[in-house]
Amino acid sequence: MKLQMATWLEVEEYLKTSRGIIIPVGSTEQHGPIGLIGTDAFCAEKIAEDAAEQAGAIVAPTLALTPAPFNMDFPGTISLSEGLFKSLVSEVVDGLMHHGFEQLYFLNAHGANLAPLSEVAADRAETKIRVRSWWDFENVNSLRNEYYGRWEGMHATPSEVAITQAAFRLVPPHPLAETPPELLSAEYLQAHSGDRHGPPAEHRERFPDGRVGAHSAMAKPSHGEQLLKAASKAVARDYQSFLGI
Ligand code: NI
Repeated sequence: MKLQMATWLEVEEYLKTSRGIIIPVGSTEQHGPIGLIGTDAFCAEKIAEDAAEQAGAIVAPTLALTPAPFNMDFPGTISLSEGLFKSLVSEVVDGLMHHGFEQLYFLNAHGANLAPLSEVAADRAETKIRVRSWWDFENVNSLRNEYYGRWEGMHATPSEVAITQAAFRLVPPHPLAETPPELLSAEYLQAHSGDRHGPPAEHRERFPDGRVGAHSAMAKPSHGEQLLKAASKAVARDYQSFLGI
């Protein structure tokens, strides 16, 4: 159930049986020639909703405005400063706790959110917060690997594009996406994990079409359906273990 689709009476009733909530966290940034600006927010939201259905959870409004400074030279990207994002997360936590939510499960879909989310969680050690990204789970990763191997890359990945194709919009093929991107080494991916990228102009110059080692054109809606199934199942299980069910 989506929090926004519930009445206050329904939320009050829910709180009598559960104190848990799933909060999707995404981004609003370029995702290459055939990836939607809302890719991360859509992935987090759809997986959270499907997982919540399986786990009987409620889903908070998606936090779609987050830090993505390195993509600011691509049209459409909106980036919050890390400080503002941390304050936003903290006040969302305060608001939910005010109503009696006690177990807050952040489902993340954007690398650059991880450090600030972990910092908020660490600053509030007394609050039960779990932060997971949808690609943290083994059943999801084996699919990513099976479908795309090293072409999964790190940004505008075929797996995230496939999820949005299955659930939201299929963008027609584009010549810029047909050419394979530069294949990045495992060392590069490791060194830049959590979206540790350079300043906007440098980032666009280095990755002119917006893909970072990811061959987005390999995405298929049928892959997206399977990825969604695997991710929502894993998240539902992980959420239930977080709640001690
Ligand atoms: Ni993304």
